Amino acid sequence: MPIKKICCIGAGYVGGPTCSVMALKCPDITVTVVDKSRERIAQWNSEKLPIYEPGLDAVVRECRGRNLFFSTDIETAIREAELIFISVNTPTKTFGMGKGRAADLKYVEGAARMIASVAAGDKIVVEKSTVPVRAAESVLKILRANNKPGVSYQILSNPEFLAEGTAIDDLLNADRVLIGGEDTPEGQAAIHELSWVYEHWIPRSRIVTMNTWSSELSKLAANAFLAQRISSINSLSAVCEATGADVSEVAKAVGLDSRIGSKFLQASVGFGGSCFQKDILNLVYICECLNLPEVAAYWQQVIDMNEYQKSRFSEKVIESLFNTVTGKQIALLGFAFKKNTGDTRESPAIHVAKTLLDEGARLHIYDPKVDSSQIMHDLTHPMMTDQPENVKNSIEIHSDPYSATSGVHAIVLCTEWDEFTNLDYGKIYEGMMKPAYVFDGRKILDHKKLIKIGFHVQTIGKRLQRPLVNRLWGSPNQV
Ligand code: NAI
Repeated sequence: MPIKKICCIGAGYVGGPTCSVMALKCPDITVTVVDKSRERIAQWNSEKLPIYEPGLDAVVRECRGRNLFFSTDIETAIREAELIFISVNTPTKTFGMGKGRAADLKYVEGAARMIASVAAGDKIVVEKSTVPVRAAESVLKILRANNKPGVSYQILSNPEFLAEGTAIDDLLNADRVLIGGEDTPEGQAAIHELSWVYEHWIPRSRIVTMNTWSSELSKLAANAFLAQRISSINSLSAVCEATGADVSEVAKAVGLDSRIGSKFLQASVGFGGSCFQKDILNLVYICECLNLPEVAAYWQQVIDMNEYQKSRFSEKVIESLFNTVTGKQIALLGFAFKKNTGDTRESPAIHVAKTLLDEGARLHIYDPKVDSSQIMHDLTHPMMTDQPENVKNSIEIHSDPYSATSGVHAIVLCTEWDEFTNLDYGKIYEGMMKPAYVFDGRKILDHKKLIKIGFHVQTIGKRLQRPLVNRLWGSPNQV
């Protein structure tokens, strides 16, 4: 029986775009995305979608109300669908066993229990959330322990590889679609059904099937490899700064090796986003539980290097500003964890902002796509500060980059938004305190031009100018 109705539990950064593209490419299937958050569903049904993703608005506009629906009626959607995606969040646990490392599966479990309580008939349940290896076993246990007569389940692993900022293109032209399932006739039949859905637009050769556990581990492995490349090049950026080598030149030379390739070799203030850190921590925790401490330590180092990079950049700002930023005005350009998204989860900008605020700076923040309420929320969160009122009084959020940079001592660039490369830096320089500093945490600006204008410029992985503090006081610690 071909699939006629799909339900997706979780209308987030993955569930929303994935199901929108599925509805676009499968007009013969009705896709209903459900969420327990009324606010999120209301936004999906409005003109202003809850997430910013290039190309998403057009896809939703075409399909919504036709074969794409957003609803809070989770029970009906589950009951009617033959195929159910679980696309809920799997954050790092914040308390209890595995705190700070293990994935918190309470939302996946909640979704599984909801399916078990309302399902009637046969269901294919698809794990799209990123989960620890063998999570499918737990989901199946919950489903089968609550089994009703006439109901049977097949569980598949189908991890999502989209990247925020390019999600629509990633979904339309996926490098691969991974489907893991049981090696039984029923398991293979379920794989075939899900594969048929993707075959509406993905060539069969790019649909890879395997056992469930390999599929679950492959997602963690892919994120670990990607993050590892960033930490590797970032570690070399520190060597470059200490020696006079240029990390962009090193990255170019290394990336031209066809065995290595050029992607994910851009040194920066560090990686962010909701996935890399949590997924690697999850991998580390799994390795520890499997009594593989050497493997755990190996992957932990990818995270440690990222923390080091964020701290190194923040310290560079403070050191360059004569070792104190107390009372100084600093413009933070970019708050999202990367360009073309409004997502701030684990954004390096949060780390940099917190360090500068702790040192007494006043921040002027501008990001083209992050709401001011989100910035306030991130910086006044109890995990960030026990003095939210002080933080609020030390931050001003701007709606344009020129007002954010007016009268400041320094500009700290944290997100690689294209618009930051096209600003009128001559005009900005005129309006800033002198000496005027630019700290380019993404290596996207024209540094020569900025220096010519009169800025003191620092970036990652390249020594542009001797720090002014060194020239003034000849600190023996600095080259
Ligand atoms: P998200 O936090 O944006 O969305 C999850 C949604 O699930 C929320 O709206 C929440 O209200 C809803 N939810 C939780 N429990 C529910 C329940 N029992 N019933 C109904 N709704 C429920 O998370 P995001 O970013 O979409 O991630 C989802 C999963 O996909 C995670 O496991 C993540 O690791 C993975 N992933 C995320 C990627 C990304 O770029 N954000 C890329 C690839 C995978």
